[in-house]
Amino acid sequence: MENGNGKLATPAAWNFTPNDTLLGLSALSVRGVLCRVKAGMVEDGVRPVVPMGNGDSSGFPCFRTPPEAEDAVADALRSGQYNSYAACVGVEPARRSIAKHLSRDLPYELSTDDVYLTNGCAQAIEIVCSVLARPGANILLPRPGYLFYEARAVFNGMEARYFDLLPENGWEVDIDGVQALADKNTIAMVIVNPGNPCGNVYTYEHLAKVAETARKLGIFVIADEVYAHLTFGEKKFVPMGVFGAVAPVLTLGSISKRWVVPGWRLGWIVTNDLNGVFQKTKVHPCSYIDVNNFISSSGVFRSGLGHGVQVVDSIKNYLEISTDPPTFVQGAIPQLLENTKQEFFHKTVNILRETADICCQKLKDISCITCPSKPEGSMFVMVKLDLSCLQDIKDDMDFCFRLAKEELVVVLPGCAVGYKNWLRITFAIEPSSLEDGLDRLKTFCLRYNKPKK
Ligand SMILES: Cc1ncc(COP(=O)(O)O)c(C=O)c1O
Repeated sequence: MENGNGKLATPAAWNFTPNDTLLGLSALSVRGVLCRVKAGMVEDGVRPVVPMGNGDSSGFPCFRTPPEAEDAVADALRSGQYNSYAACVGVEPARRSIAKHLSRDLPYELSTDDVYLTNGCAQAIEIVCSVLARPGANILLPRPGYLFYEARAVFNGMEARYFDLLPENGWEVDIDGVQALADKNTIAMVIVNPGNPCGNVYTYEHLAKVAETARKLGIFVIADEVYAHLTFGEKKFVPMGVFGAVAPVLTLGSISKRWVVPGWRLGWIVTNDLNGVFQKTKVHPCSYIDVNNFISSSGVFRSGLGHGVQVVDSIKNYLEISTDPPTFVQGAIPQLLENTKQEFFHKTVNILRETADICCQKLKDISCITCPSKPEGSMFVMVKLDLSCLQDIKDDMDFCFRLAKEELVVVLPGCAVGYKNWLRITFAIEPSSLEDGLDRLKTFCLRYNKPKK
């Protein structure tokens, strides 16, 4: 629009600015940190890049999803039955089949209504953090951990408090630490089992202690089981939902890791709540407030005040104002769950066992790196960097940046999982590539080796 002098009219000041809550949150994202790690890397056309930084093995032939899973999606797509919008909680057959699938590992049956479909487990985290955030509330998170939880909590105005995982005890939860951190504004604690970034697998007994602690504190457990059943040590996977009668549990999961299809974006939130606590606890209507244009709520878990919205209704409300996973992927779920053969799962777990062994074995030859606890699940191992053995390396970020630049090997600095001067190594890659990557890691460490005085 012109102002009559042939010039465009300009307001005194523009009314908009970006949301400053986002400032600094990319430091909490694996993708954001890996982008910085790779900033100096130039592919030389001779040596292939070895990607041991992220948790996506779908590009490696040995981890390719089985034909039954691909057929399930192709059949759903071709059927013409899944071209429409889906119900906001997800299509009924998919919810029913996920309830049946997860119930196999539980001492009770889940119902279709316990399951809500999401865009991968990442959106499940986003939803749970949005639904439960209220001013002053805090959530207890594991350290080292998957910092996406902190990003989503902070974005919604919730405080993130960290309890330790204990490396000398197979990265178990420091239960005393949890009790010391909690107060009357604590709403939930998160566990990731099998673990990212530690490769931990928790025993039945340890999970029972977690549930008992949650019950004592009057909080619920968010069980991130995106790596469910990816276990290759002595311990079998036990779902937290087994303890749904002790304390209420929200189980988060997806097909991303077990079926090696993170790009298909299909996950879930499941309520494991045998005493109906989530139904009883309500958000009081007059305590709704508007923070950063998100409706967050007060007194969600403890208060149970008045005739408000139940926790489960708030999840549905949130789903009504967010995007659904593609309907044809939802439509593929019953066939995918029913038809995937056990051989595929066995093969995946066998390769993970082999690559975890290769990784731990080769790391023994690198003196500046120590591995306190051998991974038994997921696809990661946490290792400690001894910077005193290395010259000219400032910290874990500097280490990873130079390693990527000089050796084309990508690993994640510990700062991206809340553990400075450690590294998270992904071993879910082709075994030959892993050996190559670890050999280059050793060469790099020798090059920077500080001569002993
Ligand atoms: C612990 C954890 N939770 C959630 C996610 C997100 O899973 P999805 O790819 O299904 O969104 C990841 C992805 O790496 C993860 O490691």
